[in-house]
Amino acid sequence: MGKGNDQQFVMFLQWALPRLGLRWPGFRKVRGQVRKRIGRRISELDLDNLEDYRLFLDGHPEEWSHLDNLCRITIARFFRDRGVFGSIADTVLPALAAQVTRRDQDLLRCWSCGCASGEEPYSLALIWQLALAARFPSLSMTIVGTDADPATLQRAREAYYPAGCLRELPAPWREQAFRSGPTGQLALKAEFKKIVSFLNQDVRATAPSGSFHLILCRNLAFTYFDLETQEKILGVFAEHLEPGGALVIGCHEKLPPQAETTLAPFFNIEKNGTKLNVFWKDDRLCI
Ligand SMILES: C[S@@+](CC[C@H](N)C(=O)[O-])C[C@H]1O[C@@H](n2cnc3c(N)ncnc32)[C@H](O)[C@@H]1O
Repeated sequence: MGKGNDQQFVMFLQWALPRLGLRWPGFRKVRGQVRKRIGRRISELDLDNLEDYRLFLDGHPEEWSHLDNLCRITIARFFRDRGVFGSIADTVLPALAAQVTRRDQDLLRCWSCGCASGEEPYSLALIWQLALAARFPSLSMTIVGTDADPATLQRAREAYYPAGCLRELPAPWREQAFRSGPTGQLALKAEFKKIVSFLNQDVRATAPSGSFHLILCRNLAFTYFDLETQEKILGVFAEHLEPGGALVIGCHEKLPPQAETTLAPFFNIEKNGTKLNVFWKDDRLCI
């Protein structure tokens, strides 16, 4: 595995990641899967070890985008960090829906950035359709999921999942929203797919058009990207958020230090001592 020992692999990552705008600490715990992929790539190229691969990268600039693909971590599941989705269902989405209604608008627009195989945008769709839509009859919701990985997005469009991926989803919702799918997997029913669309986009280069009331970017930019890239992406989110809109980041993540000065209108909320990592654009929205 990895065509070198762990220490050599760590040194390789510490050399390569900054050149891709990525940061080593984000990869510390998940380096095993990247190491396997790079090991396979070294074999494919008929090279012997990491040092050869490093020389290959030096001589073949086009290989860097291949390495970037190998460094994508795609772990995801429905209702990942269940408490966060509880707060989205109980607090964030109702506040946003009420705000949109007050503004006489009829569409609540959400963006799940780094949506993996659809687990996160479909979790939002389930919350809306099973818990909230009836309370806001004049409103519809649309969700766009974006991801840089085309194979992952193909799985999102198919929406077949192993049972383990649904383990944090409330059991009655699991029953309501899924049916048996191929090869022992569970298939999301069509009615829960229709408000979600997907785009193959690298957030470092492109964002979906229009503005959003809710943006989720969890376990991507603020874990794996370097500080300069995080700042840039935060600017993109600020630009694409409606006034009073909300940005949700991973519960173990934090925004880059400069955020407080560059994005003063955002403030974080705490509920029952739990950091929810929700940031509002402008503090006009009171919940
Ligand atoms: C660890 S998963 C997180 C999935 C989900 N947001 C969650 O928290 O469960 C990160 C996802 O971001 C995607 N990704 C990685 N780099 C990306 C980039 N530059 N632009 C868009 N998506 C990216 C990966 O393909 C992967 O599906």
